Formats: sequence, structure tokens, C-alpha cells
Amino acid sequence: MFRIMYMSTSTGYMPDEELEELLKIANNNNKEKKLTGLLIVKGRTFLQCLEGDKENVLELYNKIIKDKRHDNIIDLVEENAEDRLFPNWSMGYRNLKSLDDIKSKKIKRILDVKELNIKKEEISEIIEEFISCY
Ligand SMILES: Cc1cc2nc3c(=O)[nH]c(=O)nc-3n(C[C@H](O)[C@H](O)[C@H](O)COP(=O)(O)O)c2cc1C
Repeated sequence: MFRIMYMSTSTGYMPDEELEELLKIANNNNKEKKLTGLLIVKGRTFLQCLEGDKENVLELYNKIIKDKRHDNIIDLVEENAEDRLFPNWSMGYRNLKSLDDIKSKKIKRILDVKELNIKKEEISEIIEEFISCY
């Protein structure tokens, strides 16, 4: 099992309908490849976690980073993992209109200031906190 997390910035304003379309495609593709994960959108910032077989995760990630709809991709985590954090989500999704919608202080911190000196160990903790909040 392999996991990747990254942050990125959408290149232009993405209307909700476009995001929904992206999600539909992502869910179908991910189900087929037995990939799971989470996509958090806050304004123009994306935070995504992808997990599954290493080959499939890397193949998708290489496609995603070439996607012209976003750039400024910041790799947060690439790690081997025992278990999935999101076993039931082919792509869990939250569109956060306001930072006030985020109950997790740590996620808020990342999205707010794009704090990048986060330790790897902290990422899983952050995500676990996120899951338990929603
Ligand atoms: C922020 C972001 C996250 C994405 N996440 C996924 C995803 O989880 N799964 C997926 O199949 N495509 C995802 N995509 C879309 C892919 O880049 C790609 O457009 C899509 O897989 C269709 O590829 P295809 O035309 O080769 O079938 C994402 C795109 C962006 C901008």
C-alpha cells in the first residue's frame, strides 16, 4: 500500500459544476484502480490524498500533476503504508467555502498559511483529526 499527499493551486476559478464533473471522473477511475483518498478544496487550494497499489497511485499522480487545471504542486507525503486512511472513499470530497467550516485546527493552519514545514508523522495525524471531525 502506498500513499501520496500533495497540495496545489487551481490555475483559474473552478465553478462547482466543474469540480463535480472532475469528482465524477475521479470516482469512476479510482474505483476501477482500487484507489481511495480525499480531496479538500478551499478556494483555489487543493489538498489531496491518494492511496492504493504503488504502481496505480504513481500512475495517477503523474497524470494529475500534468493536469493544466492546477499548478504549484507541493508534495507533502510519499510513503508506504500498512492500511488505508480512507478505505470507503473512492475520492472523499469537501468543498470548504470558508475556513470557519474547518473544525480541524491543523488543516486550517495548512490551508490558511500553506505551512510547509509539517513533519511527515504529523500529516497522518492531521488527516485522522480531519476524519474524526466530519
Ligand atoms: C486537483 C485534481 C485532482 C484530481 N484527482 C483525480 C483522481 O483522484 N482520480 C482521477 O482519475 N483523476 C483525477 N484528476 C483528473 C486527472 O488529472 C485526469 O484529468 C483524469 O483522470 C482523466 O484522465 P484521462 O483523460 O486520461 O482519462 C484530478 C485533477 C485535479 C486537477
